[in-house]
Amino acid sequence: MKLLTYGCQMNVADSERMAGLLRQIGYTLTDDFDAADLILINTCCVRATAEDKVFGQIGRLKALKKQKPTLILGVAGCMAQKEGDNLIKRAPHIDFVLGTGQSSEVARVVRSLELERKHFVDVSNVSGDIPSEVFPLRGGQVSTFVPIMYGCNNFCTYCIVPYVRGRERSRKPEEIFAEVKQAVAEGFKEITLLGQNVNSYSGGMTFAELIGVVDKISGVERLRFMTSHPKDLSDELIAAMAGGRHICEHIHLPVQYGNDKILKRMNRVYTVEKYLELVKKIRAALPHVSLTTDLIVGFPGETDDDLRETLDFIREVQFDAAFTFIYSKRSGTPAATFPAQVDDDTKHRRLDALMKVQNEISLAKNRALEGTVVEVLVEGASKTDDKIFTGRTRSNKLVLFAHGEERAGDLINVKITQAQTWLLKGEVNVL
Ligand code: SAH
Ligand code: SF4
Ligand code: F3S
Repeated sequence: MKLLTYGCQMNVADSERMAGLLRQIGYTLTDDFDAADLILINTCCVRATAEDKVFGQIGRLKALKKQKPTLILGVAGCMAQKEGDNLIKRAPHIDFVLGTGQSSEVARVVRSLELERKHFVDVSNVSGDIPSEVFPLRGGQVSTFVPIMYGCNNFCTYCIVPYVRGRERSRKPEEIFAEVKQAVAEGFKEITLLGQNVNSYSGGMTFAELIGVVDKISGVERLRFMTSHPKDLSDELIAAMAGGRHICEHIHLPVQYGNDKILKRMNRVYTVEKYLELVKKIRAALPHVSLTTDLIVGFPGETDDDLRETLDFIREVQFDAAFTFIYSKRSGTPAATFPAQVDDDTKHRRLDALMKVQNEISLAKNRALEGTVVEVLVEGASKTDDKIFTGRTRSNKLVLFAHGEERAGDLINVKITQAQTWLLKGEVNVL
């Protein structure tokens, strides 16, 4: 089988679970499209560009499917949930479509299609989660994801996620601990706890308590989490981070915009002032914390003045990095019907302006690390040069260094010699 995963880490985690289920009925992973008897595309619909990529991929598979009619082609995930049988109408070479709540059915569906070919679509249940007993077939070897909750209740007005992932559900702490132990036993050193809004975890303890317990599980060398909604990030969590041993000094804290008018229209619930207070509190407790964020330009009603305020805001906060997106109209969300939608040229102009300011900040932040020695968790050879290894700092910055005796999973000291906007270069510290 060949799995193609688009979208966020939650989709990566789901794909690993679906692969785990398919392994039970005899499928093994391959990277080779021609060798695969089953191709499963796990999809994202957060922005139109994400959907375009998926349609492109489905289109490219048409010829392969014609050549090899026994090939089973399935589409799962958020776009499957949103589009249902429209996908098959548009691309009849797809065999099955499974919504986000049906991923635990994947093996049963594939089995039945092996016996009898017909189109199969099920997007009926948006909140059916894969049972915890399912053993994920994890990718990578150093770092892995453990979902602690599914769904989202926040309904930011631009966002499709609550519609395709359903309401918030928290997994039980024991299930999470068992999964972390299992991942550690498989050799993973770094665990990232996942949820659309981890701070509203409600599985019987608070998120701060949960992360405190996971921090003490033996073998967990590094612990991360995402994503945090600024409205729910608690003092208790900040204290847990300050007191934790393996909890990394990094918070991804999507702000989305830097002025109150747009934040209100986005239904983000906090104000710029509240966000700045939160940042101050975090930095007081965790002086070496790295803060990253998501920002959207071109939201309906945005003016050049709004953007100027956002640029001032990001200059004030000094994020280590920001993921910047152009607003994408998602039908069914409230913002899709808001007046004063912004035209494409203006959106691109604003994105460029935002990226220019943030890139300068990111570079300056990284330059400040030149000459310092940082702890790096080695990931392995870089994709382009096997003499160069990559790893990450506790602050989640990518580091490239010349390979010596290191192996994936080692924690080593690296001296930073050169900073770039999105990465650091260094040499292994021989001290
Ligand atoms: N639950 C997480 C992640 C949601 S999706 C959170 O709240 O941060 C990841 C990012 O995609 C969001 O943070 C947002 O910046 C962006 N995004 C979501 N919907 C979008 C849309 N319609 N257009 C552009 N960007 C969008
Ligand atoms: Fe979307 Fe907002 Fe939920 Fe994040 S918190 S998934 S942006 S609705
Ligand atoms: Fe995309 Fe679904 Fe994640 S829409 S961002 S894959 S939750």
